[in-house]
Amino acid sequence: MSEQQATGEKTVTLKVNGQTLSVTAMADTPLLLILRNDLQLNGPKYGCGLGECGACTVIIDGVAARACVFPLAGAEGRAITTLEGIGSRECLHPVQQAFIDEQAAQCGYCMNGMIMTAKALLDRNPHPTEAQIRNELSANLCRCGTHIEILRAVMRAARHPL
Ligand code: FES
Ligand code: FES
Repeated sequence: MSEQQATGEKTVTLKVNGQTLSVTAMADTPLLLILRNDLQLNGPKYGCGLGECGACTVIIDGVAARACVFPLAGAEGRAITTLEGIGSRECLHPVQQAFIDEQAAQCGYCMNGMIMTAKALLDRNPHPTEAQIRNELSANLCRCGTHIEILRAVMRAARHPL
């Protein structure tokens, strides 16, 4: 029996923000822990750890996903995008710029989830209605209550070509 089999660990190939890399960990390790602890990608935040707040959202194969309840083994070979992969300090993604323009952040803890969820929506539907935006973000929690500014930011981003 190999050392990996003995420990229950598995080596998994991940494609994160366009880079292919391997990590070795227990197969059921939450993807969020791998991203934050192993890969130092701290855009996705640890909120509830239960798949209920959205702070940890990443995009997997074009779909917003909650990394805190997404097992490492399930991410093998799939295209994972984190906040770090959509824009840079020098060149913000239009959704990020819209959140700044609308001053949507208060404490900022929910911003990763809001921005990544909005980006996934706009990628598949560049001109959503207000109702569609509200529906898409309805399961992302913001305890600071900046929902109106967040809604305005996504609507602003939707008016711009992405
Ligand atoms: S930390 Fe993942 S949904 Fe709350
Ligand atoms: S800005 Fe603080 S949780 Fe949303």
